[in-house]
Amino acid sequence: MYYIGIDLGTSAVKLLLMDSDGKIVNIVSREYPLYFPHPGWSEQKPEDWYEQTVLGIRELIRDVDKSQVAGISFGGQMHGLVILDEDDNVIRPAILWNDGRTTEETDYLNTVIGREKLSEYTANIAFAGFTAPKILWVKNKEPENFARISKIMLPKDYIAYKLTGVHCTDVSDASGMLLFDVKNRRWSQEMCDICGITTAQLAKCYESYEAVGTLLPQAAGELGLGTSVKVAAGAGDNAAAAVGTGTVGDNMCNISLGTSGTIFISSKKFGVDKYNALHSFAHADGSYHLMGCMLSAASCNKWWMDDIIGTKDYAAEQKAIEKLGENHVYFLPYLMGERSPHNNPNARAVFLGMSMDTTRTDMTQAVLEGVAFALRDSLEVARSLGIELTRTKICGGGARSPLWKKIIANVLNLRVDVLESEEGPSMGGAMLAAVACGEYASVEEIAAKVVKVVETVEPDAELVAKYEERYREFREIYPACKPLFG
Ligand code: XUL
Repeated sequence: MYYIGIDLGTSAVKLLLMDSDGKIVNIVSREYPLYFPHPGWSEQKPEDWYEQTVLGIRELIRDVDKSQVAGISFGGQMHGLVILDEDDNVIRPAILWNDGRTTEETDYLNTVIGREKLSEYTANIAFAGFTAPKILWVKNKEPENFARISKIMLPKDYIAYKLTGVHCTDVSDASGMLLFDVKNRRWSQEMCDICGITTAQLAKCYESYEAVGTLLPQAAGELGLGTSVKVAAGAGDNAAAAVGTGTVGDNMCNISLGTSGTIFISSKKFGVDKYNALHSFAHADGSYHLMGCMLSAASCNKWWMDDIIGTKDYAAEQKAIEKLGENHVYFLPYLMGERSPHNNPNARAVFLGMSMDTTRTDMTQAVLEGVAFALRDSLEVARSLGIELTRTKICGGGARSPLWKKIIANVLNLRVDVLESEEGPSMGGAMLAAVACGEYASVEEIAAKVVKVVETVEPDAELVAKYEERYREFREIYPACKPLFG
């Protein structure tokens, strides 16, 4: 049988076709526009997502026996607010995870409602990108749109709705809404009251590996598939990536280097840190996880390469980098503000330390290192909680760079396990579909069977020591710049 994983990302939808043994049969990617209507705002059109997903799936399955496609599931960009009216039409463009417009609403939630209450109700505090502050923003700034809301959804759930007609979500993605009681895996009535919505406006919440329905005749026709194809709830992209990289069970780690950068630690037990510096979310394997999320990771490198120095040849640019651990140029990677651990939508990127002999190569290196240092900031929070990690998996577009993996291994002092493919969320989505269709008994079972480590990047003691010194300096830069960020 075949299973389709849909990774509904920020720059593109990535589609993956997997067979019963976990072998990748085909991969297709289709882009859609990202809108920045004001500085710090970030929006997309749900209709674009669906259109490109349909075109992508048709291309994905063009050369296979379509009757063998059994299931579809997702990894989706998290936190985005999709609102539908009573006829299930999209009311306004989706407000995305990296949108920073909700400073006022986030402050209101954290200070007037209070961090303690939010943490008690949801296991998390408010971050500008989370969904609840966005609902309050629509309520405050677009009351006519707020009044029309019949359903509130997350990005991938809009695709599931179009495919099945079911308003659904899953526990991992729901966790990032600040409307979900993570510990008990159910909606929080208190948070709905605070946001002025009802639980009826929210979707039914499933475990990630549960089937929510089968294809509607219209969707089946558009895709060229039968109506018996099952659609499983799927997961937020980070939980799906964790499934795709075998980061399931206890105390496993995955780093994702996509548009965002995340460090994801799986846990059988529910847990929250005292300052809520890391997100405490439900995992797609039926358990929990902690996660730090930086808003710009591979996107910093893309910005630097494509927009600033104007090259597409990332490998050639990185080939010139030779002196690891000795760079005196630093880069704060806060191009879209920052989430973990600073929680500051007004933070901005900074280059520091250039002199007349600084080269373009030093600056390219600083960008890659700045992202690694910022990931280390979240790892330090995890370490301060007594979490001991010695190794991590890695996925996402940035994970294709051998140099970046080496920098990460040495800055974080972790063994980096490299997998057969870096397709985290789409692979995880396909794996969740296979579990929903009964091909495997559990997420842990399929992960043990199909995820294969092909290489491990070992940290080198000398380089780790050099980067330790650099990291200490890096840590001084944000507090020094903070007053200038407004
Ligand atoms: C996680 C987060 C991002 C998006 C990216 O909290 O906001 O990783 O899910 O798609």
